[in-house]
Amino acid sequence: MSDFKTAKIVIDKDFIIGEIDKRIYGSFIEHLGRAVYGGIYEPGHPLADDMGFRKDVIELVKKIGVPIIRYPGGNFVSGYNWEDGVGPLEKRPKQLELAWSTVETNQIGTNEFIEWAKRVDAEVMMAVNLGTRGIEAAKNLVEYCNHPKDSYWSDLRISHGYRQSHNIKTWCLGNEMDGPWQIGHKTAEEYGRVACEAAKVMKWVDPTIELVACGSSGSGMPTFAEWEATVLEHTYEQIEYISLHTYYGNFNDDTANFLASTMNMDAFIKSVVSTCDYIKAKKKSKKTINLSFDEWNVWFHSNEDDKKLERWSIAPSQLEDVYTHEDAILVGSMLITLLKNADRIKIACLAQLVNVIAPIMTENNGKSWRQTIFYPYMHASVYGRGIVMRPVTKSPLYDTKDFCDVPLLDIVAVLDEENGYLTVFTVNKDLESPMLLELDARNFEEYIVKKHIILENEDMKAINSKDYTENVVPHDRGNAVMERGKLTALLPKLSWNVIRLSKLLNK
Ligand code: AHR
Repeated sequence: MSDFKTAKIVIDKDFIIGEIDKRIYGSFIEHLGRAVYGGIYEPGHPLADDMGFRKDVIELVKKIGVPIIRYPGGNFVSGYNWEDGVGPLEKRPKQLELAWSTVETNQIGTNEFIEWAKRVDAEVMMAVNLGTRGIEAAKNLVEYCNHPKDSYWSDLRISHGYRQSHNIKTWCLGNEMDGPWQIGHKTAEEYGRVACEAAKVMKWVDPTIELVACGSSGSGMPTFAEWEATVLEHTYEQIEYISLHTYYGNFNDDTANFLASTMNMDAFIKSVVSTCDYIKAKKKSKKTINLSFDEWNVWFHSNEDDKKLERWSIAPSQLEDVYTHEDAILVGSMLITLLKNADRIKIACLAQLVNVIAPIMTENNGKSWRQTIFYPYMHASVYGRGIVMRPVTKSPLYDTKDFCDVPLLDIVAVLDEENGYLTVFTVNKDLESPMLLELDARNFEEYIVKKHIILENEDMKAINSKDYTENVVPHDRGNAVMERGKLTALLPKLSWNVIRLSKLLNK
């Protein structure tokens, strides 16, 4: 084994990053393409339930264990009248949807989505429209959703058949307001003021809610990080989180460079943390603002097809990226990056969940299937609960067109002390060779390897599809062994690995 490249890691119970907020495994459903119509909702489908929701999709979402789902957008929310989506279905208007040039039928709205979220055991993270609308519509929506009764908007909800308040805890103050593509795009000053005032009245209606202000749409935005500083100047005392969004693509078919994108993601996170703390210092505040990384994924495969779409169609196939094996490896690496920053990232949403740049795909009137990226996301969500430990890492490095000194190995360890589980998530980014992992788990002598799951493929462009649903799937034939607190494992080239250890007494 010693002929292999080797990565040497130390983990220790006392090297703690922090407790994982389960919402770090959140996702996102936007009224876009076939995410809602034909995705989660298809009334005529043989597997539709009493409300028209696809039971096969519900099952897949539950397999991942998605704790929170952002809704209804995205760019969509910046032109959305939430009132169009409540009340009798036959009275709901068809609207031109300007963010994605489609027609929105409003057959699914706030109440139905909240009902669907219950069926997948997820909380809803609701976004308000600060594009075409503002303080009043935002305040009314909080009242409609959360106020118990005896007010105009809460009584309207009751008249729509929802006696209990929905009690939505987490709210986004608009979406990507820094982007010129956004309906109602604003300067940081303009957005900061309206976000502050909307936040104030939303919390006057329900003081228990938590709010997310829009950060930059990406670290490449010309206004980054001045945007964050200005927005935080205005909103610091009103909000709990600031958002980050990022998407990566292998545009030049340079896989080594593509896989190194997590260097950019990590730097982005660190810069936003620094900006939050700079404003904290300036304001002499005791409060700490945390991060909501509420859009992240790979997104580039569908760009050309989407340019050819006919305008004003209903639920077209839009943003339907079909993901490769190498995309899944980057998604795994992005999950590790989020976990390594779990001291400040409390919410993160894989964008998105069904059909639109998604881990779950459906055929209209047909079956559902799992994309390659489904697997790392599911593994992290299912096994990655507890405390994140800070690994001390010595990994071989590589350089790419855009990045220097990129570790070939990404790794993080999660301890679930209560149930006696230690889980190591690790990615080998080497395109040619396996890597030997030598992990000194000094306080975990009593742990043994239960499972070593691997996602690997000879073809880095391999995909799943409706006809070949099992082309890229993980196996659990990894060779990890633990002996007296020393874990060794061979990590295949370009692989995602989950090494699940448990205390000897555990079954
Ligand atoms: O997730 C797709 C889109 O990406 C969202 O609508 C928008 O917020 C971002 O630009």
